[in-house]
Amino acid sequence: MRFGIFLPNGSNGYIPSKGSPIYEPTFEHNKRISQEAEDLGFDFVLSMMKYRGFGGETGYWDSCLESFTLMSAIASVTSSIGLFPSISILSQHPAVVARMIATIDDISDGRCGLNIVTGWNKAEYEQMGMWPGSSHYTERYTYAKEYVDILKSLWKYGRCTYEGKFFRLDDCIVLPKPKGEIPIVCAGQSPKGKQFVAENANHQFVMTGKKNLIAGVADITARSSAVNRKVGIYALYHMIIADTDEAAKNITEKIVREVDTGAVSNILSSAALDTNPTGTSDQLKAALKQDVEEGNMAFMGIPVLYGSVGTLVEKIKKLEDETGIDGLLFSWPNFLDGLRKFGREISPNLT
Ligand SMILES: Cc1cc2nc3c(=O)[nH]c(=O)nc-3n(C[C@H](O)[C@H](O)[C@H](O)COP(=O)(O)O)c2cc1C
Repeated sequence: MRFGIFLPNGSNGYIPSKGSPIYEPTFEHNKRISQEAEDLGFDFVLSMMKYRGFGGETGYWDSCLESFTLMSAIASVTSSIGLFPSISILSQHPAVVARMIATIDDISDGRCGLNIVTGWNKAEYEQMGMWPGSSHYTERYTYAKEYVDILKSLWKYGRCTYEGKFFRLDDCIVLPKPKGEIPIVCAGQSPKGKQFVAENANHQFVMTGKKNLIAGVADITARSSAVNRKVGIYALYHMIIADTDEAAKNITEKIVREVDTGAVSNILSSAALDTNPTGTSDQLKAALKQDVEEGNMAFMGIPVLYGSVGTLVEKIKKLEDETGIDGLLFSWPNFLDGLRKFGREISPNLT
């Protein structure tokens, strides 16, 4: 299995709760995480992009370091770890992004991929006059398909002429080209999102507990083999590591008890507007009361693996055997403590 880290480039990482550390994102923090992750054998780091946070008492995601500029800096202070910036496709033209990726590819000597974010959260884009209207809820993957076709054409040929519903390029030239193929990842979870992933991406990020993960892997495998492609699945998990299972459970329960209800209600109000069915927005709504192992809103709907080192080794082995995922992507309440424990005590026992 491959292991990655979901970098905390937004405030407070990925936990909207007063029971977890509250902090501003900094380059120094993300740099140390990336460098230590590289030394400990992690395969990749991914940074997110949020243009508007969800507030509440914790100011959840109110600050967010820009994903491309951050990954560009991280590229220059690392040497082997894979780098995935995230593009919120409504925010920048694909020809600009093709060039930004080619630049990070050059700085990192071919370590850069790209996470495609279609954008379900109107408030982020409306504040900049970039929200195309409610048609985007249902058309976001048609827009994404045009976007990715343009990126791929520019990376392959260095030029592109294109006439689509959303984009028009007239002999657009973008050089230099990246050294090799740029791996595309996407976390589409709705049926339209999954079909987009199967047809266009190299990997899918999923955010769901073990029960749905088994069905999810089968679904993506079927969709991608139907179009003669192979798509790897990486599951996103929070990890709570403590000396005993009981202590890990207590930390987990404190985070749930002290959930930032203001931030969660802002997240759910935005999700309620999304008319693309059975995707992440619906998942978030369901996560209000869900068990932490399946994804509770105190953890942003991201499922949690908790326990002692020994228990976590067993849980991860089971997850791999029972689901057939290709990798895991982690977030911790305290990233540096978490990645050191995982890299030194858990990962060596997984083989
Ligand atoms: C690992 C991971 C990374 C993500 N990164 C971002 C991000 O940077 N910005 C963002 O707005 N959404 C992000 N998302 C949300 C997804 O990109 C996607 O919009 C969401 O899952 C909606 O899927 P759907 O369109 O199929 O409903 C991420 C999700 C996961 C699981």
